[in-house]
Amino acid sequence: MKKYGYFDDLRKEYIITHPDTPLPWINYLGTDSYFSLISNTGGGYSFYKDARYRRLTRYRYNNTPFDSNGKYIYIRENKTGKFWSTTWQPTRHTMEMYQCQHGLGYTTIQSQAEKIHSKVTYFVPLNENLEIWKIKITNHHTHTVDISLFSFVEFCLWDAQGDATNFQRNFNIGEVEIDSATSTIYHKTEYRERRNHFAFFSCSEPLKGYDTQREKFIGSYHSMESPVVVENGNSLKSHAHGWAPIGSHHIEVTLEPEQTKEIIFILGYSENKKSEKFSPPDSQILNKDKVNQKITYYKDPKNVEDAFIALKRYWDQLLSKFTIKTPDVHTNRMVNIWNQYQCMVTFNLSRSASFFESGIGRGMGFRDSNQDILGFVHLIPEKARQRILDLASTQMPSGGAYHQYQPLTKRGNHELGSNFNDDPLWLILSTVAYLKETGDFDILKEDIPFENQKNSEKSLLTHLELSLKYTLDRLGPHGLPLIGRADWNDCLNLNCFSEEPNQSFQTTANKEGKIAESLFIAGQFVYAAKQMNELFIYLKMVDKANHYSGAIQKMEEAIVQHGWDGEWFLRAYDDRGHKVGSHENNEGQIYIESQGMCLMAEVGKKMKLATKTLASVHRHLATPHGIMLHHPPYTRYHLELGEISSYPPGYKENGSIFCHTNPWIMIAEAMNGNPEQAYNYYLRINPSAREHLSDLHRCEPYIYAQTIAGYDAPTFGEAKNSWLTGTAAWNFVAISQYILGIHPTFNGLAIEPKVPQTWLEYKVSRLFRGVIYSIEVKRVEEGENPSCEVDGIQVNSSTIPLPDVSKKEVKVLIKIP
Ligand code: GLC
Ligand code: GLC
Repeated sequence: MKKYGYFDDLRKEYIITHPDTPLPWINYLGTDSYFSLISNTGGGYSFYKDARYRRLTRYRYNNTPFDSNGKYIYIRENKTGKFWSTTWQPTRHTMEMYQCQHGLGYTTIQSQAEKIHSKVTYFVPLNENLEIWKIKITNHHTHTVDISLFSFVEFCLWDAQGDATNFQRNFNIGEVEIDSATSTIYHKTEYRERRNHFAFFSCSEPLKGYDTQREKFIGSYHSMESPVVVENGNSLKSHAHGWAPIGSHHIEVTLEPEQTKEIIFILGYSENKKSEKFSPPDSQILNKDKVNQKITYYKDPKNVEDAFIALKRYWDQLLSKFTIKTPDVHTNRMVNIWNQYQCMVTFNLSRSASFFESGIGRGMGFRDSNQDILGFVHLIPEKARQRILDLASTQMPSGGAYHQYQPLTKRGNHELGSNFNDDPLWLILSTVAYLKETGDFDILKEDIPFENQKNSEKSLLTHLELSLKYTLDRLGPHGLPLIGRADWNDCLNLNCFSEEPNQSFQTTANKEGKIAESLFIAGQFVYAAKQMNELFIYLKMVDKANHYSGAIQKMEEAIVQHGWDGEWFLRAYDDRGHKVGSHENNEGQIYIESQGMCLMAEVGKKMKLATKTLASVHRHLATPHGIMLHHPPYTRYHLELGEISSYPPGYKENGSIFCHTNPWIMIAEAMNGNPEQAYNYYLRINPSAREHLSDLHRCEPYIYAQTIAGYDAPTFGEAKNSWLTGTAAWNFVAISQYILGIHPTFNGLAIEPKVPQTWLEYKVSRLFRGVIYSIEVKRVEEGENPSCEVDGIQVNSSTIPLPDVSKKEVKVLIKIP
């Protein structure tokens, strides 16, 4: 199979050497408010905070070539008239060289055609709402060349939904301003009315010309492959009035042999105060005072260089909080670099904006964002703290939660509403993870509103208890939790019964929902409630702990009595009270989710159900490409099960390898004392370990994808929907906390290695509550006993308490059998 690139672990980069990757292999630029997505061929889009409401540039989803529209620069040799694009797309010309480096927060694409070499670096400086494109062009001819450069972005009219639908309005409202003195194009559609924000696209060079009207630049019957303006080598100084505003600078450069020229483009977002929107105030002219300062600053190559170095430092410092050195290269690079990087991206964007998520339908998912915190909290705990408070503020007085909220407003999304009955319990997991990481118990006293309503505030601790109560208030005929619209599996819709193709499976509730029960939520309740109990005990709230112990016990009994199928846990009871996920069913006999959750919660521990369950998972669900969601997949539509059976067998929720769930089994295997199997499962879906399968896998080899087609799919092994998936957080939890065994507790850092026998040693460096733990794990030698030494002194517990405040580093040596 073909390889499209390779890892450069030292530089923390993935290097793509062939532009025609099976799918666009992309990167996310931006760490805070301004985000820019970019593929290995320059495709992608940008937005400020919210991919729906503040979209800067247009992207055409569902297109061919796949990543159509992006951040392009055309180069034209004026004498010959030959032209090409620095990122291969959109011209797709023959190149003398091509290389894309995806790094942490930046992407550099180099290419060469007609002996003209170009190197463009795209990045978003820290704490800025703009992106830099820095291009260096070198002439490798033995003679002087005159070239023209044409930049290109297409502006989105802010609301990505309206932008893609309301053309009778859109084709009339587009407005721009051009300031030749500063080489800046301003996109200011709707600024005349209620918006106080605009976009700007500037350049460090004087302009030969510019274009802002798409049709003029491209030509009515041309395409991005050969815009007329580029073909003719002359910009038209077009001014957009309605239609489709773009930004294109035309720059002329003369290069001596081997001469290099550096040019900087700046694309960004800016706001003015309402009272300062226009200058002069009684005009309709954009007030550019503030933004022009920024533009001037970043036209200076020195400042760009500084910002780039600062960004690199930022990532080096963030990733230094958790580093490992193990005998396995795939584990090392994923844990040290890419898995943590992806955790940051999922934390920032939940499931909102990718090449597969339109940024329109979804904001921040309640269950998704809480889970994302599990993999992110050690990186920037303060941000996790704020996210927890934001999420809790969308909870309802019942304890239920809005399924999603909009990042711009932080308000719950009414269109989608609530009643995904697993949602509230995830808040417990994220909060406990935060507490264990930081020891910041004050967060529990924060006053947090319900549904963002003033004067409804209750403490976060009360919110967490309400999450438990929400489940307990909604038990079904077997004493198991009612599923509501769905649980973790959005497509297991047991109260939907939709026969109408125009309905959403999740928004229809054709049944009252008093019968269908979820074994997943049952396990999740036990898992979360046990964590709450640990917290109550730590806080010395004994009455509470006792109270919930009772509830936990009852739930466990209900699971064992009504939820055990003999060899594995059932998945659910449907609305008729029939079993889902039982050997009695013809299809969907065994599901992964309830096995994972019940085992992580240690349900049935006394009866030793784990070994039997995990053997069943291995027998029925495990494939070389990962563990499937359920098996056999549904071959026809089941009215009573909903969307799950709408997917063809082996895809998505109908029996694909839904990578998010695999770490639950890895964790269960590790907990059950089978490190070999845990690690074996880990490697099956590790993207780096699948790099050699790129032609089959198709998604990026440095990032987890949501699904890999299951055994029954015609494209078994093919990954889809990369980047925004809970797979990132959970795999990081599985490998770091359960396999490598480094996990924070209320009382200190616990170290409990569960690694394969072939590993003779490994090292971990972990920053925990301000202390660096340098951990070395070794196999005992002949005649030696397992042991744990902290700074040279033998200790008996695997939990290393925090050292004296003056101490900033602790050395741990662990010998394992
Ligand atoms: C998607 C959703 C997530 C859900 C999963 C399974 O990834 O974002 O919330 O749990 O699908 O349906
Ligand atoms: C759709 C998708 C499913 C996703 C859900 C999120 O049902 O098929 O995968 O989890 O939407 O709302």
